[in-house]
Amino acid sequence: MDLEHIVSEAQRAFAAALDAASLENEKARFLGKSGQLTELLKGLGKLDAEQRKAEGARINAAKQQVEAALQARRQALNDELMNVRLAAEAIDVTLPGRGQSRGTLHPVLTTWERVEKIFHSIGFDVADGPEIETDWYNFTALNSPENHPARSMQDTFYVDGSDETGKPLLLRTHTSPMQVRYARMHRPPIKVIAPGRTYRVDSDATHSPMFHQVEGLWIDENISFADLKGVYTDFLRQFFERDDIRVRFRPSYFPFTEPSAEIDMTFETGKNAGKWLEISGSGQVHPNVVRNMGLDPERYIGFAFGSGLERLAMLRYGVDDLRLFYENDLRFLRQFA
Ligand code: PHE
Repeated sequence: MDLEHIVSEAQRAFAAALDAASLENEKARFLGKSGQLTELLKGLGKLDAEQRKAEGARINAAKQQVEAALQARRQALNDELMNVRLAAEAIDVTLPGRGQSRGTLHPVLTTWERVEKIFHSIGFDVADGPEIETDWYNFTALNSPENHPARSMQDTFYVDGSDETGKPLLLRTHTSPMQVRYARMHRPPIKVIAPGRTYRVDSDATHSPMFHQVEGLWIDENISFADLKGVYTDFLRQFFERDDIRVRFRPSYFPFTEPSAEIDMTFETGKNAGKWLEISGSGQVHPNVVRNMGLDPERYIGFAFGSGLERLAMLRYGVDDLRLFYENDLRFLRQFA
C-alpha cells in the first residue's frame, strides 16, 4: 500500500468531514484498531530487522502526517462552531441603550420607611416579627377572651399547622403581638415600633385582606397618657410636615388597653379641612398584658398604639380609594416616582 496515497486519502477524508462525529469516524479508518496505518504497523513483524527499521520509520512519519491533519481539522471545526456562536450572540455595542426604567418604592413602603425614620429619631427601636403567629401572641397574651369574635374564622385567616399547645396558627390580625414578643426579649425602658403586614378576612373599598400597621409601645415606670398624646402628635406633625393638625382622642375599647382611645385627626386648612379621620387605636397597656410581658404591673406602665399605614399614606398623598394601592396600575404608581 502506497503510504503517500494513504496520507492524501486521509487528508481528503478529514477535509470532507463536516462535523466532529464524522471526523472521528474517518479517523478510525486510518488510525483505529484496524485502520490502514495500524494494519501496516502490525505487518512489520514479518520483515527482517533491517527492513523493519526502514519501513517502520516511513510508516510512523506517515502516521504523524495523518495525526497532524486530524488535529488541524478538529481545530478548524471548533473554530467554525465558535464563529457561528459569536455571530449568533453578537452585540452591537454602538446601539443606544434601551433606557433606564428605574423602579420606585410603593407609596405604602415609602410611608413605612418615613414612619420608621421619624420614630427612630425620637428614640424608638424598630422591630420586626412573624406574620404567621400563634393564638397566644395574637389573642391570649393580649387579654382577648377565648370567645372574642375576632378569633372566629370569619375574621381571622387560619393556616395549616399548629403551635406546641396544639392551637392552630394564624396570620396575625394586627401588629400588637409584637408588643409582647418584643417586651419579653428586652428590659424596660421599652420604646419600640413594629411596622408590618397584617391580615383580616375583609375586602371592600376601605378594607383589604392584607394591610399594614405600625405598632408603638413605650413602657417604663412613669409613662402616662400625656406622653402618648405628646409623642403621637409630634409624630403626625413630622409625618405630614405641617403644624395645622388637630388630634382627637376618642374613648374606645380594646381588650389589651385600659383606658383605650381611637386617635382621629384632621387638617385645619385645605380641601378636607375639619373632616375627622380615624388613624390609630391606642391606650394604656392593660395590667394583664404587662404581666404577660413578664413585668410587674405595679411597677411598669405605658402606652401602645396601632396605626394603619395605608391610612397614613392615603392622607399624605390624597388617595381616596384604598384599593388603588393593590391594583398595581402603573399610571397610579408612577405618580410616586
Ligand atoms: N391592634 C389594634 C387594632 O388592630 C390597635 C391598637 C394597638 C389598639 C395598640 C390599642 C393599642 O385595631
